[in-house]
Amino acid sequence: MASSSQSQSQSQSLTPYLRGNAHHAPWRSRFVRRALLVAAAAAALAAAAGGSGTADDQIPAIFMFGDSIVDPGNNNNRLTEARANFPPYGQDFPGGVATGRFSNGLVPGDLLASKLGIKELLPPFLSSDLELKDLLTGVAFACGGSGYDPLTSKLATTLSSDDQLELFHEYKQKLTALVGEKEMTRVISEGVFFTVMGSNDIVNNYFTLPIRRHEYDLPSYVDFLVSSAINFTKTLNDMGAKKIGFLGVPPLGCCPSQITLGGSPSRQCEPQRNQASELYNSRVSKEIERLNAERSASGSKIVYFDIYYNLLDLIQNPSSYGFKDASEGCCGSTVLNAAIFIAYHSACPNAIDYIFWDGFHPTEKAYNIVVDKLIQQASKYLMM
Ligand SMILES: *[C@@H]1O[C@H](CO)[C@@H](O)[C@H](O)[C@H]1NC(C)=O
Repeated sequence: MASSSQSQSQSQSLTPYLRGNAHHAPWRSRFVRRALLVAAAAAALAAAAGGSGTADDQIPAIFMFGDSIVDPGNNNNRLTEARANFPPYGQDFPGGVATGRFSNGLVPGDLLASKLGIKELLPPFLSSDLELKDLLTGVAFACGGSGYDPLTSKLATTLSSDDQLELFHEYKQKLTALVGEKEMTRVISEGVFFTVMGSNDIVNNYFTLPIRRHEYDLPSYVDFLVSSAINFTKTLNDMGAKKIGFLGVPPLGCCPSQITLGGSPSRQCEPQRNQASELYNSRVSKEIERLNAERSASGSKIVYFDIYYNLLDLIQNPSSYGFKDASEGCCGSTVLNAAIFIAYHSACPNAIDYIFWDGFHPTEKAYNIVVDKLIQQASKYLMM
């Protein structure tokens, strides 16, 4: 766990929220419980009318840990390059607003929350205007630039994976203060958690900077990363998360920025970064399986989900998914065509033609397809 002093600046910015809401808590929680009952009754009616879900299936909350793939704006008030709260980000988001999401529109946390019938948008925990109902249905702790290697987040001046767990600890305290320990425990033990990190560790740290490469060859760096990822997942489980979806990394050599670095004239995916992604995925998936076996007796489910082949299928068959371009980003294809480096870059009106929005991040349309496949797998293995 991170020391509390490390995330002191966050605690300070959250204090007004706590103070402002605490005395409304009893009234609000009764109100919210009634709203939840109404929602459950509606779900039961829908099921009776032939819908697929039942009230018992309903997942109360969703939580996201990770990096810019699933950060909806936790870095907005941080001095970091890993921010996206300015145009052209958000050009296709409801209202065309740049919220800090690293895409043209919705990001996977939003899509998962809405497809699972929880809510339309998954807000950042560090948002200044969260209400009780937001807390009860889940938030994102993910921060752009983060990774399982603590050095990765340091280089990007963002919160580490341990800092994200510290935010989760604050979340639990806050929710306990508002609705009591029993309800807090119910929300997190029935809620579904996803963790999406590792990409920055591999491409922005190991392949870009000399520090780790000086200490580790690739297989031993991968082992270090896997050990760190498993420690993170164990701690998350120890803190009360029971249903944890652990996502591997995408084919990192196929990001437009990494294709450009690789220099292939026909813009083929860069093979070394793809091999590193596969090596990490194969080792971490085995360890997640082992951890799941160890922890399943206590009612936990910890499941690895592939997004490597899931996304690679789009990249190899773009036209069958309605994409015109698989290797260029809508806003450019270098490492400097992302985050603050494309602040106020002109809009890219045809985002629907592209798998990638910028040098690193997929478009909402690509995320939507990947998330549909993820939900199919997750409903079989994680959420039943
Ligand atoms: C993970 O935890 C184990 C046991 O506490 C420790 O020995 C190991 O160094 C940790 N790994 C990393 C990368 O922090």
